[in-house]
Amino acid sequence: MNLNILVLPGDGIGVEVTGEAVRVLREVARAAGHSVRFTEGLLGGAAIKAEGTPFPAKTEKLALKADAVLLGAVGLPEFDNAPPEMRPERGLLRIRQAMGVFANLRPVRTYKSLLDSSPLKNSIVEGTDMIIVRELTGGIYYGTPRGISGEGANERAVNTMTYSRAEIERVARMAFTLAKGRRKKLTSVDKSNVLENSQLWRKVVIEVAKDFPDVALDHMLVDNCAMQLILDPKRFDVVLTENMFGDILSDEGAVLTGSIGMLPSASIGEKRASGAWTGLYEPVHGSAPDIAGQNKANPLGAIGSVAAMLEYTFGLTNEAAAVNQAIESVLAQGRLTADLKPVGTPATTEEVGAAVCAAIQL
Ligand code: IPM
Ligand code: MG
Repeated sequence: MNLNILVLPGDGIGVEVTGEAVRVLREVARAAGHSVRFTEGLLGGAAIKAEGTPFPAKTEKLALKADAVLLGAVGLPEFDNAPPEMRPERGLLRIRQAMGVFANLRPVRTYKSLLDSSPLKNSIVEGTDMIIVRELTGGIYYGTPRGISGEGANERAVNTMTYSRAEIERVARMAFTLAKGRRKKLTSVDKSNVLENSQLWRKVVIEVAKDFPDVALDHMLVDNCAMQLILDPKRFDVVLTENMFGDILSDEGAVLTGSIGMLPSASIGEKRASGAWTGLYEPVHGSAPDIAGQNKANPLGAIGSVAAMLEYTFGLTNEAAAVNQAIESVLAQGRLTADLKPVGTPATTEEVGAAVCAAIQL
């Protein structure tokens, strides 16, 4: 197979972790006899500095041409006070929208060797295995009107949360399809006791559920869900929710597994004519400028995103499984970066990447 990958390292630790993810992808391709071509582009703060915009037209072109996009992270403190359209994060929102990747899949599962890294008791987290499906191209992140107006005592800000039936339906279908291939349980998370948006969300999800009679559906209010994730994370299989709730809940979910550095994500859009899914793959963590450039960051979220890419965009399930198994074996060897609180000296970003490469069996 020929794999055409656009790499967007972005800012901060994005550069280091995508470096290791690329290394792993090269190794898998070599072992399995695929040819892989990497192109690199600019996004986020790096793009603002070089091109004056967080999402240059050239990056958009490359993203739409590639089979899949591997993204690091965006965000730099020097842009904290910049206007919204000149912030690195806007680059991320725009590329998600341009690629039409409306479903963000964030798997949260515990590894036996990491149980002690979790802030929760082993008995609560052990066996947790869920996937958060976050709607990614709608809701309050994109709704208009938005902006800040007025001055002094009259200054005000507005954001708009909006969802159409079609936007809810397509992401719900994707979540139910995933649930069908798993433990057949879907929890839809909303705030329907307060928001009209959530009332429509719930109504459409119930309608879609009729096409998936073997999947058990329940509904949970987002505040309760935040609590249940801590009290009893094992109860969840597929969690479906809108953009901002998903952003918040997935950070909470991530830390259950020991560190947000562990979590991969896959953002999927429509199927292309070729049958492949449009995909943007990125770790859930941010750019962590405080540890950038120090060879300390955990590359496993980015490497896990490579596994997701092999699976979802290329249908290479054996290769994806090989990467995931290599991650497990490196964890079992105790080669952990500092975020996972290892006993003894933490491993570096590069050491973990090299260890994953060495553990790949195909
Ligand atoms: C994420 C991040 C982004 C988001 C930020 C960086 C814009 O937090 O992918 O979860 O809010 O979607
Ligand atoms: Mg987030």
